[in-house]
Amino acid sequence: MNILITGGAGFIGSHVVRLFVNKYPEYQIVNLDVLTYAGNLENLRDIENKPNYHFERVDITDYDGVLGVMRKYDIDGVIHLAAESHVDRSIKDPMAFARTNVMGTLTMLNAAKTYWDSKLESNKAQAIGLGTEKYPGKRFYHISTDEVYGALEMGGGFFTEQTKYQPHSPYSASKASSDHFVRAFHDTYELPTIVTNCSNNYGPYQFPEKLIPLFINNIRHGKPLPVYGKGENVRDWLYVEDHARAIDLIFHKGKIADTYNIGGFNEWRNIDLIKVIIKTVDKLLGNPEGHSEHLITYVTDRAGHDLRYAIDSTKLKNELGWEPSLQFEEGIEKTVRWYLDNQEWMDRITSGEYEKYYESMYANR
Ligand code: NAD
Ligand code: DAU
Repeated sequence: MNILITGGAGFIGSHVVRLFVNKYPEYQIVNLDVLTYAGNLENLRDIENKPNYHFERVDITDYDGVLGVMRKYDIDGVIHLAAESHVDRSIKDPMAFARTNVMGTLTMLNAAKTYWDSKLESNKAQAIGLGTEKYPGKRFYHISTDEVYGALEMGGGFFTEQTKYQPHSPYSASKASSDHFVRAFHDTYELPTIVTNCSNNYGPYQFPEKLIPLFINNIRHGKPLPVYGKGENVRDWLYVEDHARAIDLIFHKGKIADTYNIGGFNEWRNIDLIKVIIKTVDKLLGNPEGHSEHLITYVTDRAGHDLRYAIDSTKLKNELGWEPSLQFEEGIEKTVRWYLDNQEWMDRITSGEYEKYYESMYANR
């Protein structure tokens, strides 16, 4: 198969690209990413010279560019992760989120449909058990978020695949809209789509505007840790490599037109999680326990801050046998250790140096 992964230079995308490139040497893996501030090709240094890895700097809203890449590599499957992903940025600039997340996803769907329509005859010859009758062997897999479901009460139930969409932030509204377009392309054109909605990811290579890497870096520099509101909001955390494993499984075995929730049944109040991060960083830096707690600084709450997210991933477990592999205590220690061992990666982001990597590696190819 030839697989197009969008947003592969970002946090989750880089883990998915790495998994597919290493696990499936017989596949061609094309990473399509325009390299916004969140795209960092240094996340993929270890696999960038593998023969089955290809990088294309293209914007997902550029229809001709996307179609050109689909033709160039004769793409069979799309795993679509490219997005504007940070809630705080969506509050400041909602238009950018509509452009990338809504129009970009629609452009990806249109390009896939156009390309696969141009190959209807040869599609029929494909024996692989993926795809719909009209598009055998094809698959368009859209990566979404639990935030589309809105917010839960404290101590209440979970988001299931039946929970109705009730997004609150411009980010989640844009992701909800993109999910609807994906399903509409199946229902209208028989495009072989799948959607998954995942909870908060953590692990290596996350851009340091998100809670966990931001706080690890701030502790390292003795800088304040800005806790929104009272720190009582709850998030459900999943180690990023477990998400990538789920994506691999669902891409190959998931049912067309279906939806799967992905999560680790691992809820944490922000303030409790922050204390675990402080304790772990202090321990690994050799500081006495409690050394960095004074950095906790309560600040104005995020506008429209969703109180609680919690994913019920029973369907994925029952139907496809997926379960998270890491206990949270193990995952968070592994994560903190990674950021402390890879301080140069972090420093190149905070200094802006990482943005020059594309020029040095790819611009003249
Ligand atoms: P990220 O912000 O780290 O990476 C996004 C990537 O998309 C970057 O490499 C960026 O350059 C690229 N991109 C952005 N706009 C683009 C455009 N117009 N054209 C081409 N490329 C573009 O994001 P992430 O946290 O890795 O999230 C990836 C996906 O997973 C998103 O769709 C997000 O909604 C979803 N998701 C994230 C989480 C999470 O906890 N991070 C949880 C559930 C779902
Ligand atoms: O639930 C899945 C979502 O998780 C993804 O769809 C998003 O792309 C991803 O960014 C993440 O969204 P959150 O808003 O939950 O993640 P963030 O790391 O920004 O914040 C986690 C929690 O910590 C949230 O309740 C806000 C709070 N927070 C965050 C930051 C950056 C703080 O208290 N202080 C901070 O400085």
